[in-house]
Amino acid sequence: MRAIGSLCLSLAISLALLTGTEARNADSIDKCPPLKVRRNGPKDVTDVRIDDIKVIAALGDSIIGGFGLMGKGNGTTTINTVIEYRGESYPIGGNDGAETLATYTKRYQPKLKGASVGEHLVERCNLEYCPPTEYRPSIDNLNGARSGAVAKSLDPELDYVIPRMKNYPGVDFENDWKLITIQIGSNDQCGSCTSFANESTVEAYTLYVESAIERIQNNIPKIIVNLIGNLRVSALLPLAEAHAEYCPSTDTSVNYFTPKAECPCLASQDQTDTMDYLADNYDKALINIAHKYRARKGGDFAVVYQPYDINFISFPVQALSSLDCFHPSLTLHKYFSKIFWNSLFLPSQRKPQHYSYDPNLTLYCPKQKDRIATK
Ligand SMILES: *[C@@H]1O[C@H](CO)[C@@H](O)[C@H](O)[C@H]1NC(C)=O
Ligand SMILES: *[C@@H]1O[C@H](CO)[C@@H](O)[C@H](O)[C@H]1NC(C)=O
Ligand SMILES: *[C@@H]1O[C@H](CO)[C@@H](O)[C@H](O)[C@H]1NC(C)=O
Repeated sequence: MRAIGSLCLSLAISLALLTGTEARNADSIDKCPPLKVRRNGPKDVTDVRIDDIKVIAALGDSIIGGFGLMGKGNGTTTINTVIEYRGESYPIGGNDGAETLATYTKRYQPKLKGASVGEHLVERCNLEYCPPTEYRPSIDNLNGARSGAVAKSLDPELDYVIPRMKNYPGVDFENDWKLITIQIGSNDQCGSCTSFANESTVEAYTLYVESAIERIQNNIPKIIVNLIGNLRVSALLPLAEAHAEYCPSTDTSVNYFTPKAECPCLASQDQTDTMDYLADNYDKALINIAHKYRARKGGDFAVVYQPYDINFISFPVQALSSLDCFHPSLTLHKYFSKIFWNSLFLPSQRKPQHYSYDPNLTLYCPKQKDRIATK
């Protein structure tokens, strides 16, 4: 009797779960149920729902720029392949049908502003050369990333993004809630064996990132900083080296675009050990920064940290761009968009710390009660 009673009860509960409720996960954002419109906006930064985000922005390097994600095209490396596909970049690409944080957010907030669209030739910035004039505002919109950028470049990137955001058609700069994704550090790792090594130390990196965070806090109201961790750049080399059939020749006289050409410090074990040390300690610095600038009740600013430890060797080689086997391909950008979308809704203690390839990875469908996780 008791057993039957509890069986009935558990049947009733599972039926309730099946019928009354919203999908938990889906393979495309269109299959996630819409959210009911909120009566009131967020009371503070701890209360921001995804459909409260009206403006999206990003800072970073060639990954965020979308460099090379379409691969080498028809086999030859020409000027037409050194392109940044800004409209497909995982945090901020806004092309129709793109799978990015921006398009997923737009599903819930159709008026979202700031996504980058289309493509253009590479926009370079590094410690020697960072011209302020290379942006194409109608393509880049609020994607301030530059290929080659290091932590020090976040400041010139903000020189572009802050005024562009203030004057953006349809943006209420004072009142709209904003989300800015920052991913920086790969080129800093790759600079650690060069004459710019002094700019790659953990201390220098921390100083530059924190200065950018402070500048955002002091100049942009109502904003959440989505701070992406560091991947170990060295971890992609074994995947590239295991697939000579896919990856371009490593002979730099015929092909400039190889991992070691783009990141000279991949040349020796000593140097990659240093890069790994830096990646791990940059992350510790980012975690400290996120803690220092964590959400506070009544506040309108927060930094949230997303772990980014990618176990490259578990991925199919097509995760790497066939242009250089160094940059992420479109496939990997889409994958990143899913892991960082899902992570956005998880409190830090429940976020995955490491990512191995999951061919069945799906998108989380946010529910009424979900907020952008700031704890
Ligand atoms: C590759 O070749 C096809 C067919 O000739 C052409 O339509 C396409 O634009 C080429 N792609 C690139 C990246 O050159
Ligand atoms: C690195 O060295 C250069 C050249 O000496 C100097 O201009 C720069 O300020 C140094 N950077 C840091 C972070 O110490
Ligand atoms: C992915 O899903 C397929 C089909 O449902 C299943 O056979 C496979 O084991 C899953 N793979 C992983 C790694 O979970």
